[in-house]
Amino acid sequence: MTTRANPPGRSASRTAQAQPWRLDCHVAAGDDAASADELRRGLTAARPWIPARWFYDDAGCELFVRITGLDEYYQTRTEQALLDDHMGALVRAYGTTELVEIGSGAARKTRAILDAMEGAGTLRRFIPFDISPGAIAASAADIAAAYPGVRVHGVAGDFSRHLSRIPRRPADGRRMVAFLGGTIGNLDPPRRRTMMRRLARLLRPGDCLLMGTDLAHDPDVLVRAYDDAQGVTTAFNRNIIRHINHAYAGDADPEHFAHVARWNARASRIEMHLRARRDIEWNIAGLGIVVPIEAGATIRTEISCKFTPDSARAMYEDAGLSLAAWHEDPLGRYALSVAAAG
Ligand code: SAH
Ligand code: TRP
Repeated sequence: MTTRANPPGRSASRTAQAQPWRLDCHVAAGDDAASADELRRGLTAARPWIPARWFYDDAGCELFVRITGLDEYYQTRTEQALLDDHMGALVRAYGTTELVEIGSGAARKTRAILDAMEGAGTLRRFIPFDISPGAIAASAADIAAAYPGVRVHGVAGDFSRHLSRIPRRPADGRRMVAFLGGTIGNLDPPRRRTMMRRLARLLRPGDCLLMGTDLAHDPDVLVRAYDDAQGVTTAFNRNIIRHINHAYAGDADPEHFAHVARWNARASRIEMHLRARRDIEWNIAGLGIVVPIEAGATIRTEISCKFTPDSARAMYEDAGLSLAAWHEDPLGRYALSVAAAG
């Protein structure tokens, strides 16, 4: 048993509200053996790394929302503009009745899709899926209030493990699965491949997958998007240390780490690290480990792979999907694409 459905205090079914919404919870901080094992393995590896889901506690989700508003982080506004331009036609073409959004976060851009579904008169259900129960609860309530008649069924889980907990697709509906924000790029190629196949399994013929992918372009622009002048990204990266300290009784000072973002041209990806500014002994009592980190040594916290039209097409085809639409912004920095289930 590695997960716990509906832990006390974390499950909610709010049917008393004007618009009902519910939340199924498959994650619980600090008592999940599988994620503790993964973290212990990452921190004690020859080249230490931390699974990226540790960014996203409530404080991390709030910091990420601040990142999405930064001048340097062009991705969010670019994706928003592409959604505003194309969702109406897409939703009409596919007759979409339900939206499943993976890594929905604050679900702000989601509204462009829900607006299009409402405009087409086909909006029935919204299923936000995220590792952060707090983010889902907040967005589910907002969306249920803003879209009369929509059913909101949130699922809090790890998209590497719990996608099968997403409610069944009704036989008479048409589903769109959205995976926005370039989050697919945060998975390395083997995990990306598994993820794409799992996403494909959520679809039936006539359904579609909507993805946002950041594209390979000017390395200086890319690096700045992950190392902003105000230091919000630094705070976001350091929040990982705080989150782990909190979950597993760790004692490292986040300020003892510097934020590093660099472009790896060979792998076509941005890599994020935390670099020790002095010798550190990170005692993590709840994991039963002490992690020695020498001054200058780094812990990898994230990768963000950048695509080309060809690499995106290959990714879809590998999952048995076919690229049906590709929309790039005028500067060629970001793409919104649609793949159809065969
Ligand atoms: N879709 C939003 C947020 C993207 S940030 C946008 O485009 O702006 C990535 C989101 O994925 C966060 O909300 C984070 O909580 C969620 N996430 C990260 N790792 C996850 C995992 N392993 N399982 C489920 N959700 C995850
Ligand atoms: N999906 C986002 C991206 O790759 C995640 C992200 C944005 C991120 N900024 C970050 C992750 C900074 C770590 C650090 O663009």
